[in-house]
This record gives sequence, C-alpha cells and structure tokens, in this order.
Amino acid sequence: MQRDEGWITATLQSTRLLTPGIREFTLLPDGGATPYPAGAHLRVELEIGGRSSLRHYSLVGAAPRDGSWRVAVQREEAGRGGSRAMWALAPGARLRVSRPRSHFELAPGAPEVLLLAGGIGITPLIGMAETLLRQRARFRLLYAGRSRRSMAYLPELSALLGDALVVQAEDEAGRPDLAQVFAGLMAGAEAYVCGPIGLLGAARQAWAAAGRAPSALVFETFGSSGHAAPGAFTVHIPRLGREVAVAADVSMLEALEAAGIGVLSDCRRGECGLCALDVLGLDGRIDHRDVFFSARQHDENRRLCACVSRVVGESITIDPPWRGDAPLAPGQGERRVAPA
Ligand code: FES
Repeated sequence: MQRDEGWITATLQSTRLLTPGIREFTLLPDGGATPYPAGAHLRVELEIGGRSSLRHYSLVGAAPRDGSWRVAVQREEAGRGGSRAMWALAPGARLRVSRPRSHFELAPGAPEVLLLAGGIGITPLIGMAETLLRQRARFRLLYAGRSRRSMAYLPELSALLGDALVVQAEDEAGRPDLAQVFAGLMAGAEAYVCGPIGLLGAARQAWAAAGRAPSALVFETFGSSGHAAPGAFTVHIPRLGREVAVAADVSMLEALEAAGIGVLSDCRRGECGLCALDVLGLDGRIDHRDVFFSARQHDENRRLCACVSRVVGESITIDPPWRGDAPLAPGQGERRVAPA
C-alpha cells in the first residue's frame, strides 16, 4: 500500500561500528545522493522472515557526505528483525530505498531550540545541530543514554558542538530532569525530541506541566520502540468474519495487509494516526507505541495505531474502517498528513 514515492536502488558502500550495539551504514544511491532537510529519513525495504518489510532510518548529518547517505542502526535482539537484517548486510549489497522523506523538520525563527535525544534517537538530531550551528542559532543538544559507551557519535558531536552539547549518561548522573531543563528555556523556545517511547512520554508530560505551547514540542519516534518486547497475537474482525495472526516480527498493519484487509496508512511510524483502528475487545493489554494519541487516549484503549502498537497477550478485536476485503491498489488509501 505504498505509493511509488521514487524508490531507487542503493549500494551499501561500507559499515562502521560506532558502539558495541550501533552500526553506521553508508549508502550510495544509483544516480547519487540528493540533499535532504535535517531530520529526514529513508525507508528501506528488507527481507525479514521471507517477507518484504519496510523500516525507517533517519539520515545522519545535515547533508550527504562524499555523495552518500548515512544511517545508523541499533541492533535489537528482541525487535521485529529489521536491525538484524540490516546488520547481516555486507558491503556491496543492493537495497531498495525511498528518496528522503521528512515529517520532522526544524521550523525557522525560534528564539531558542532544545534538541533532546535518547539513545539512537540522536541520529536525526545531528543534522539539526549542524544546521543550527551554521545558522548561529541559540540551541543546545541534550543527549541522554544509558552509558557513554552505548552512545553513538559522542566524539564527533563533542568536537563539533563544544558547550552546546550536554551529555547525560544514566550510569553517571541518572536521567535528565526534564522539568528543570524545560524551566531553563526562554519563552517561545522550541524542543525537538527523538528517543524511546518512555522519553517521549516524559517529555510531553513535563512540557505540558511547564505550561509551554504543545506546538513547540516536536517529536520523532523510532516506530518500533515500545514498553514490552514484541510477541505474537491474534486479531479478530467480527464484521469481516476474519481472524489474522500477527507474528512477533511483523506489525499488525503488515499482517492485516498480508491478509488482504486494507488499512489506510502513511507514516508507518505512529505519528500521523491514519492507520488508527477502533478496538472492540481485548484479551491482554495494548503496548501503545505511537505519539499520535494522548496519554489519556492510550489509557482508554479505544483506538490503536496498527502500524506500531501491539498487543501483549492473546488477542484484540477490531473494527477496521475499510470495508473492502481486498488490498487497496497502490496509491489508494494513502494521503499525506502535514507534520504536527
Ligand atoms: S500510518 Fe501513521 S500512525 Fe500509523
């Protein structure tokens, strides 16, 4: 159900181990790497469990380097298989990738900008930091991680940003006190946050508690980061008389599509809300992994974003809005939603 948005083939030129768990991939697209806005990402088509699957990886840096795009991938042993598939690639591999897309762009004109990264969430923020530095903007990059050893690009960022980089390693100083961080920002400041779902939730809460404008807090998600390891579950669809098994290594959206049940989608990262489905029943609990719904809506469990959210337990009963029993044709059922 992906519209042809300029898919191209790229060659994996090289890989580089950044930390024991994070590897950088340098990709040379056929025809050369085009520029992109800081914060953009690529969609990469991977073969996972014998099926073609899409993963999203943020581009590192504000511009291509030596004519190539760079992404960095954290290996997730308990994940859905995308990182393991990437790590299995050897230089010379050919990959289908989308042209850069962006739902996470710097807006001009803020009096101050805070970039807040958690772990591998640093990747889209590197290009933003480079851009803000070039613009001589007032900004800071707060980079949080479990330990310095686990945090990619620390030497480069330290050399580039100097005092504008604040490193918060949990094993040294605990987690950042977001209330204090946000309280220190100027009126009208903006924050760009990328990290695991727990950090995003904490940032949203602290930002609201600080009385700051919701529109001045901009998120990017991993699309796969949740509160529990992914497991298998079953989807019941009474209106269609169907049952669909969702394996641990596929998303609920992918499983429904593979079963011929069309669901609208766009970002596939839990950001736009287009794939949201009504929940009629639940045997277990929902691991909400989107940033589209509010914390209150997550607690209510009335809807979920099928592209990222999962069931921890046996099954879920849903009522999909799409009444057809055949997959939508390419380009159907997809619309762009302006970034929040
Ligand atoms: S497709 Fe955008 S939230 Fe699921």
